[in-house]
Amino acid sequence: MKLLDGISLAKKIRDDLKKRVALLKGRKPGIAFLLIGEHPASHTYVTMKKKRCEEVGIFSKVLPLPVSISEKELIQTIERLNQEETIDGILVQQPLPSHLSTAHVVESIDPNKDVDGFHPLNMGKLLLGEEGGFVPCTPLGILKLLEEAKIELQGKHVVIVGRSNIVGKPLAALLVQKKAHRNATVTLAHSYTKDLASLCRSGDILVAAMGKPLLIKKEMVKPHAVVIDVGINKMETQKGLQIVGDVDFAQVSEVASYITPVPGGVGPMTIAMLLSNTLASYQKIS
Ligand code: GUN
Repeated sequence: MKLLDGISLAKKIRDDLKKRVALLKGRKPGIAFLLIGEHPASHTYVTMKKKRCEEVGIFSKVLPLPVSISEKELIQTIERLNQEETIDGILVQQPLPSHLSTAHVVESIDPNKDVDGFHPLNMGKLLLGEEGGFVPCTPLGILKLLEEAKIELQGKHVVIVGRSNIVGKPLAALLVQKKAHRNATVTLAHSYTKDLASLCRSGDILVAAMGKPLLIKKEMVKPHAVVIDVGINKMETQKGLQIVGDVDFAQVSEVASYITPVPGGVGPMTIAMLLSNTLASYQKIS
């Protein structure tokens, strides 16, 4: 079993971005983070994203907004950022409080500043295989991890468990693309999928992205499969409160050929891809 080390690959990507940002003349790339309410995990993620921006020389600002903000006020805030020349990327941390429509909010972001790649225009381009849009950060980070380890996707069966708009759906679109080193056969499984265990076991590559701690057990994994764990769950264990993935790492690492650890696998790659998308946005705008 080999580990797919997201910490070291993400660092390599950030070091490269830092060099490229240092060569820029004039203003630096900029990103705004909108953080609505008190969701503790969202606060942690945005704090980490801001720190990584600073390290590579990307200007960032966090707009903490009250949980009571109306959709109209939030959209007006986004529209102001759409016009701000120092801002290349706008990220609205999800999940949003339930009185806000994620669709309405995401659609108000200028697609050219949508570094998350969640706007329907960017999602549409991804689905159609058109170049020039932003690709969501977690799917892109997973692709980079597979590329770095020279894991071929062509003709392979990729089983993705979890159909979220943030991971499952865009990852399926990315890996199925008719393109060299993609061309995978993708199955998107979810909470209504029948006989999940045997479906998972048919995957040459298994991606767990449903947010259920330790759901994927050894018997659900094909021997020598590649296992990608997108889960970040807090769980009380014998060692106290720990971060665990959607994969039971202790068991599954006995059968997998490659596996991502949690933490230290997909998470750091997501942030590295956000920085990369922000620099790409800057280069398109300026
Ligand atoms: N919540 C969980 N992952 C993400 C992400 O990649 N972007 C945003 N905006 N919210 C998230």
